[in-house]
Amino acid sequence: MKEAQGGAALPGTSLQRACRLLVVFCALHLSATLLYYLAGSSALRPPRSPEPPARSPGPPPRSPGPANRSRAQPGPPPPDCPDPSPLLGGALRVEFSQPVNLEEVEKINPEVREGGRYVPKDCKALQKVAIIIPFRNRDEHLKYWLYYLHPILQRQQLDYGVYVINQDGEETFNRAKLLNVGFEEALKEYDYDCFVFSDVDLIPMDDRNIYKCYSQPRHLSVSMDKFGFRLPYNQYFGGVSALSKEQFIKINGFPNNYWGWGGEDDDIYNRFDRIAHTRETMNSDGLNTLSYKVVKTDKYPLYTKITVDVGSPKK
Ligand code: BGC
Repeated sequence: MKEAQGGAALPGTSLQRACRLLVVFCALHLSATLLYYLAGSSALRPPRSPEPPARSPGPPPRSPGPANRSRAQPGPPPPDCPDPSPLLGGALRVEFSQPVNLEEVEKINPEVREGGRYVPKDCKALQKVAIIIPFRNRDEHLKYWLYYLHPILQRQQLDYGVYVINQDGEETFNRAKLLNVGFEEALKEYDYDCFVFSDVDLIPMDDRNIYKCYSQPRHLSVSMDKFGFRLPYNQYFGGVSALSKEQFIKINGFPNNYWGWGGEDDDIYNRFDRIAHTRETMNSDGLNTLSYKVVKTDKYPLYTKITVDVGSPKK
């Protein structure tokens, strides 16, 4: 059978052509769409990065989920510092022939913070110690003290601060009253639990002489070169001594009425004793009768200097 060609064949041929055109048009449209899509999507895709995205510097979300909360918490508290400190080296060579440059001392003690504060990084110090130094016009001695003591106190792994209590004016010096002032002023800054009272010209010759407190008040300068490495007398309590906050409060601090050189350390010694007279005076002369005026506080890189008006002896 032969298909019919002729008049009836014309409409059949144009329909086929129209269909072919439609198929070509659809194929073109499809390819164009595909090309457009591929090109467009690759331009929008973020560049690949080998690093995780940087964290937003903005504040943390207000109500973090449990996972976020545990991440925001600080790590576990550091362990207690070991006793004795493993950093101690023993006997030290102490000499005063070379002048000390405080900028150099700062450089070799980069972890000492302003005001002469230091806290061990990797462990929790066993004690918080304020070192109190009564002072007037002894800058050269102070430089040696800072040069030697900062490294020692850091090796002893103490949480400590250095307070130089400078007596203002030209009145008679009052060592013990300055020590009382140091106790009061240091406690305004930090919750110290131990106080080491030190003359500015005394340097330990062994770092195992720990500048901390014990269950009883402790005399730390027990063997001094100027006394032939012996105590001048058995009751001697001068030089460097350590008392806990509780012990200091219990004896009503130190006497305020020893003007000039000598005697105040013997009075302090006797506050621990059962001598009737000392017992009487210690209740009426000490922390409970202390009066002074802070003139100026200077925060130096290696120490805090508190200049104070302690008045004058009653004439
Ligand atoms: C004084 C003390 C002094 C001691 C050692 C005593 O006579 O009263 O204040 O520390 O001698 O020099």
